Amino acid sequence: MRLSLRFILPLLIALAAIAYGVVPMVDGLTLRWSTRDLDSRSSMIATTLQDPLAELIEKGNREKIFLYFDKITQDERLFALGYCPAGPGGLIATRTFPASLNCESLAAGRHPQAKLLTSVSGLLHVSSKEVLIGGRSAGWLILVHDMSFVQRRSEETRRYVFYFFIGMGAIVSLITVIIAQLSWRGWNHGMRALLRGEGLVRPMERFVQPELRPLARDLRTLINEIESEHRTRDVSMVTWTPDSLRRILHEELKGDDVIVVSNREPYIHVSKDGRLEVHRPASGLVTALEPVMRACSGVWIAHGSGSGDQEAVDAQDRVAVPPENPAYQLRRVWLTKEEEAGYYYGFSNEGLWPLCHIAHVRPTFRTRDWEHYVAVNRKFAEVVKEEAKTDDPIVLVQDYHFALLPRMIRELLPRATVISFWHIPWPNSEAISICPWRMELLDGMLGSSILGFHTQSHCNNFLDTVDRLLEARVDREALTVTYRREPSSIHRYPISIAWPPPEEIHCDPVPACRAKIRRRYHLAEDQRVGIGVDRLDYTKGILERFKAVERLLEAEPSWIGRFTFLQIAAPSRSSIEQYQDFELRVRALEGRINARFGKGDWLPILLKIEHYEPEAVHEHYRAAEFCYVSSLHDGMNLVAKEFVASRNDERGVLILSQFAGASRELPEALIVNPYDIDQCAAAMHLALTMPQAEQRARMRLMRGLIQEFNVYRWAGKMLLDAAHMRMRGRLTQYKGDIPGEAPPSGEVIP
Ligand code: F6P
Repeated sequence: MRLSLRFILPLLIALAAIAYGVVPMVDGLTLRWSTRDLDSRSSMIATTLQDPLAELIEKGNREKIFLYFDKITQDERLFALGYCPAGPGGLIATRTFPASLNCESLAAGRHPQAKLLTSVSGLLHVSSKEVLIGGRSAGWLILVHDMSFVQRRSEETRRYVFYFFIGMGAIVSLITVIIAQLSWRGWNHGMRALLRGEGLVRPMERFVQPELRPLARDLRTLINEIESEHRTRDVSMVTWTPDSLRRILHEELKGDDVIVVSNREPYIHVSKDGRLEVHRPASGLVTALEPVMRACSGVWIAHGSGSGDQEAVDAQDRVAVPPENPAYQLRRVWLTKEEEAGYYYGFSNEGLWPLCHIAHVRPTFRTRDWEHYVAVNRKFAEVVKEEAKTDDPIVLVQDYHFALLPRMIRELLPRATVISFWHIPWPNSEAISICPWRMELLDGMLGSSILGFHTQSHCNNFLDTVDRLLEARVDREALTVTYRREPSSIHRYPISIAWPPPEEIHCDPVPACRAKIRRRYHLAEDQRVGIGVDRLDYTKGILERFKAVERLLEAEPSWIGRFTFLQIAAPSRSSIEQYQDFELRVRALEGRINARFGKGDWLPILLKIEHYEPEAVHEHYRAAEFCYVSSLHDGMNLVAKEFVASRNDERGVLILSQFAGASRELPEALIVNPYDIDQCAAAMHLALTMPQAEQRARMRLMRGLIQEFNVYRWAGKMLLDAAHMRMRGRLTQYKGDIPGEAPPSGEVIP
């Protein structure tokens, strides 16, 4: 009914307005037409009376003229007649002749045009005609017509117009209501069919207009996702938890073997003064995967890079972690200095890292590095085979260090399900074409059963690259690539963090963290603090961030002395020249800005180039007024999510680069272009002055999203997809079964 009223009310208002305008117009028209009628009627009567009247005038008999007039005015419309003689004698007129008319008053207006007169008897039409006798004027005949019939006609017309519009309004409303109800029912029906999952395409097409079909498809996908999640989760469970993952492993994967491979290890043993210390690296990959492995209890294979790593492992190079409460095995792989230099520092971080990040640092590709990259990938493949308890394990291959590994695993363990996740952006095909070994990389990656990226645009770039460079079948609807007769699903799995954040358990409340951090850096109690937490990497926009702080102090000098930006920068890849240069530039800029604005003990920027353990970072997040993530390009950036998760007080503001994948999920952050220094300075000012209610509203929305889309969901979705694949036996069924599939070939010349 409400839907119908929405159409009917405006319609009725419009009709009433039209009627209001039409009535006076109809009145005017009726009056004009009637006056014209009476003009010609008067002229006709005057002509008819001309001769008999002339005769009576010649006889000079006033009485007879009066009787003659009286007789003629029996006609109901002719209201009165009068005669004004040219000479003496005065007016001869019927009794009904209006008193306001006399020969003197009429003499002034004697002309053939009529005039309208309002008298006690109503509206009158008065016209005059000259009486001629023998060609000479003998006076004027005055004819007065009653026009009350015009008023009657007018009233009647008004009534008709009123009824006409009422009728029209009713008919149009009825038609509108019927059409609205039919359309609504159609839409409803379509949606219900959609929600019931009934023959999606056909029935929907009947009800949904072509332009709405993509929306319907997305809706169906979303519903499917939610349904499949609900099937796997306990109905009472609102959020994905470690238990959800365990349930998938036991119920959907029947306890299958799970192996994770990454370059970075989750725990690093460092030998210090004859003792072993355990460090946790600053790594988004580790932040995300560690809680997943705690839940899944598999084996994590990684490069043993710590000075105490060899000492900590058993005879099979394994160590149970986490050290305080072991839940899974860490299998360490040893690399020589040359291998590390070529595979990790060289090909991965001087080649692929700048290639995939649009941060204006040139990639460097060396044949020697490539050879190490191939050799190390092979070494890890062998270790995967060693660690596999069955011939069809589920192997989760992490990141750009292992682009070749999926194909190598497939060769050693053809029945394995390989899920690869690319943690950094995938650029467009032109950029990838720079790499001399692009074909080998793509070939290696397409050994994966599932290949995941953070965002849909990274998936699309990957599909475009394959389409352009390889002879492969790319299905953009199903998001699959079939290459060497093997299908790979290309999917978006936005990575996240554990919820609730594990650091929260032992962390002080927010006010205590605020006080502690201010004490630690000798800041006044009411000092405002902004924070940045990154690896010291040129992709993170740290220089641009410092320039924005400088701009803030220029534009809003009231913050001088009252605001401090605290930058935690974990040393990273420091044997690479570009990283060394970058550190020098960061230090120089910090020095210049501090020298320009610093006063006494107060400095605008506190730069800490050192490693902080996750609990300490958590405390810093809780102490800050805002956190600024200014990546020039980033796959996801988990600092953004960690900051939001740490703020259980629902305070604090996140300033987030539009070039970080996280900006697709956290639109309630202040989204900025990190290259636009003025805009970023304004965002900092806004963050420092944002009312609490607004901070809370934004934080709530972001926290809700991270809680729901946490890392258990990220891993769970991939494992579920793998489980469905295994159930359908797709991998083995497809292997070698597709006739006419093109054999692997060389590069397609663009
Ligand atoms: O962001 C890409 C990435 O490889 C992450 O997966 C990881 O957290 C981070 O870089 C750390 O890099 P590294 O292992 O070289 O210190």
